Amino acid sequence: MRAHLLLALAAPLFAGGQILAPADQTTVAAEVRVIARHDGKPEILIDGKPLAAESPHRGILHLTITLAAGAHEIALEGGPRIRVHSGPGAPASWPVFRAHPPGGAACTSCHAVRNGEWAFAKASLVGVCFACHDREAFPRTHTHEPGIVPDCQMCHSPHGSASAGHLKLGREAACKLCHN
Ligand code: HEC
Ligand code: HEC
Ligand code: HEC
Ligand code: HEC
Repeated sequence: MRAHLLLALAAPLFAGGQILAPADQTTVAAEVRVIARHDGKPEILIDGKPLAAESPHRGILHLTITLAAGAHEIALEGGPRIRVHSGPGAPASWPVFRAHPPGGAACTSCHAVRNGEWAFAKASLVGVCFACHDREAFPRTHTHEPGIVPDCQMCHSPHGSASAGHLKLGREAACKLCHN
């Protein structure tokens, strides 16, 4: 019982961490921003070589790197690793990863550290997104007012993706989250 408890405590919530952007097996721009969370050292391994990353909060890392043309591996020590390709010659099945927002907007355009937690820059996520997006246009594309579907990340990848509209789910599947 006791050993079990200790084991549970020793296992971090994100064991080994997570690479949030870019996505695995995608074609990336020469300049790419890596976003990750990891409880270990504030380093990201590019092709096995550790590079110091910025850490806006404990366990949160980001790093903008310029990749030479060709295949690369992005990894967290003892954690996940992904493969990306920069420039021509990428495997045909690797779609193009588009960063969101494009142009490397600051993390603080969406995030802030509040009460010691990595949180959102505004009281609601909706407020964060509509700082840049048109609230008036929203009901036309979403059938709903934003108040009905306030969890934008339920359907969209906020740091970028290789899918149209940065959708995690197709339109039909997205609506079926709540409708039969
Ligand atoms: C366009 C808004 C936006 C920007 C810019 C942005 N993020 Fe995020 N981020 C989000 C949203 C929305 C989520 C929640 C995603 C989810 O829950 O699926 C999130 C989640 C995260 C998480 C995971 C938090 C958790 O508890 O698992 C981390 C880490 C993170 N962001 C780091 C960053 C860093 C570092 C930057 C800057 C390099 C950044 N983000 C820029 C919107 C943004
Ligand atoms: C700092 C400004 C900024 C913030 C904040 C922001 N976006 Fe964006 N977003 C952009 C820009 C710029 C584009 C690319 C231009 C475009 O296609 O409209 C974009 C594109 C998108 C797209 C893809 C549009 C398409 O069809 O290609 C989606 C979906 C999106 N954003 C959702 C969100 C969500 C959800 C949030 C909140 C988590 C958010 N955005 C916050 C600036 C922002
Ligand atoms: C239930 C799933 C779902 C949720 C939740 C959702 N979206 Fe979308 N969103 C979509 C779909 C589907 C599209 C593609 C619409 C189309 O072109 O068919 C889209 C398109 C977009 C676009 C691009 C089209 C445009 O109007 O410029 C933006 C920006 C966007 N969403 C922002 C948001 C924001 C901000 C939120 C949270 C307030 C949000 N979305 C919540 C499903 C969702
Ligand atoms: C987060 C849950 C949620 C998601 C996701 C969602 N809806 Fe809804 N939907 C609701 C709720 C709650 C209502 C009832 C309140 C209202 O009418 O605004 C509703 C009502 C509707 C209605 C009116 C139905 C009626 O009988 O009056 C339509 C049409 C609709 N949704 C379409 C969509 C479409 C299309 C999508 C995908 C883009 C979608 N919904 C995604 C929660 C959701």
